[in-house]
Amino acid sequence: MAGCSHGITPTDHSFTALADLYGKCQRGHTLPQALYTSQAVFDFEMKAVFARAWLQAGHLAEVPRVGDYITAQVGKTSVVIIREAESSVRAYFNTCRHRGALICTSDKGSARRLVCPYHQWTYDLKGNLIFARNMPADFDPGRHSLIPVHCEVVAGVIFIALSDDVPDFSELRRALGPMLAPHDLENAKVAHAAVLPEYANWKLVMENGRECYHCSARHPELLSSFRDPTEDDYFEGLPQWMVDFEATCRANGLINGPAEGAWFDILRFPIKDGVDSLTLDGRLACAKPLIPGGEGNIGTLRWATEPSAFSHALRDHAFTFEAWPIDAGTTHVRAKWLVHKDALEGRDYELAHLTALWNATNDQDKWLAENNFLGVQGAGYVPGPYSQNDEKKVIDFVDWYLDTVRSYLHR
Ligand code: FES
Ligand SMILES: [Fe+2]
Repeated sequence: MAGCSHGITPTDHSFTALADLYGKCQRGHTLPQALYTSQAVFDFEMKAVFARAWLQAGHLAEVPRVGDYITAQVGKTSVVIIREAESSVRAYFNTCRHRGALICTSDKGSARRLVCPYHQWTYDLKGNLIFARNMPADFDPGRHSLIPVHCEVVAGVIFIALSDDVPDFSELRRALGPMLAPHDLENAKVAHAAVLPEYANWKLVMENGRECYHCSARHPELLSSFRDPTEDDYFEGLPQWMVDFEATCRANGLINGPAEGAWFDILRFPIKDGVDSLTLDGRLACAKPLIPGGEGNIGTLRWATEPSAFSHALRDHAFTFEAWPIDAGTTHVRAKWLVHKDALEGRDYELAHLTALWNATNDQDKWLAENNFLGVQGAGYVPGPYSQNDEKKVIDFVDWYLDTVRSYLHR
């Protein structure tokens, strides 16, 4: 893990020191060293950034039955997201109201009641404390419910927020809902999920995920079916493949966007000519598609939300990427592949075919982010300039990050 000796020490939490450090940031450039390496900065970011954002945390498809739950780890804070009723998902801080132990200790599970493993205080799915052994007569269980976390769902995708100080979720609901709904992720299943620990600061993981400047050199598997957006002619004129793509999407009743907000960015765009999906061979990964019927290249619907996620929905499957910050030098990437809920492995899809492209890409990106983090920690590091075109979304990410932090510092 990174040392904490760069600019801010763990004991120096003063806003003045932080404001000075953020004041040194130069637009269009990578951040000062301490912003990538300091644990004190990371601890500050948990309050200033991660507690004030909507975090993509999973899918209804991960909690299909009442009592199914998943957990999410935001720094030191654990959250449990649980299907509370047929039509309702709730989230709680995964911390017992007795002496604070973690209640759910695995990534996912299923329970009719949430029982703390320490002294068996027991909560129902609405978070009410329903059992606490040998407590005094004046003990009020009603004052010891699980503490709720905001939880919203759009087109089957679950978002959580750790505080009230977050943007209006309806902006994303309005933008993403109609674009993603045809992919019917509410009737999908998670065919595969993987957690990839990356020993790099979360911002380096996300900067890497926001650009394709590195794709031609580092991602041969991705570029077997993904159109490299940094190719010279990509944005020039209105090429025929783009005209054909737009027509195919209209014929399929799809909305392409773009739709942008201060904290999200959504666009459906073409993949390579002659390929049907983001797979190594370009063939559909699943014979039972998410969008039934229709023909032609409908590309991929990519949505990205700040600070920590991007996703792709195709005709046949969807892939989602969540980056969960653990400490200044550790990020857990959660990758998930979704297919139609009735698709059968071995009949409709093969897991290796479905996952190979992003497994290879994620492994390569892990190496790139970790290598970046190693270099950033050295005495020779000074902030460098981003490419204005090919790293535009990285510039947008850093601008959003700095705006978010400054709005917290100057409250
Ligand atoms: S800490 Fe949970 S029951 Fe004691
Ligand atoms: Fe990459």
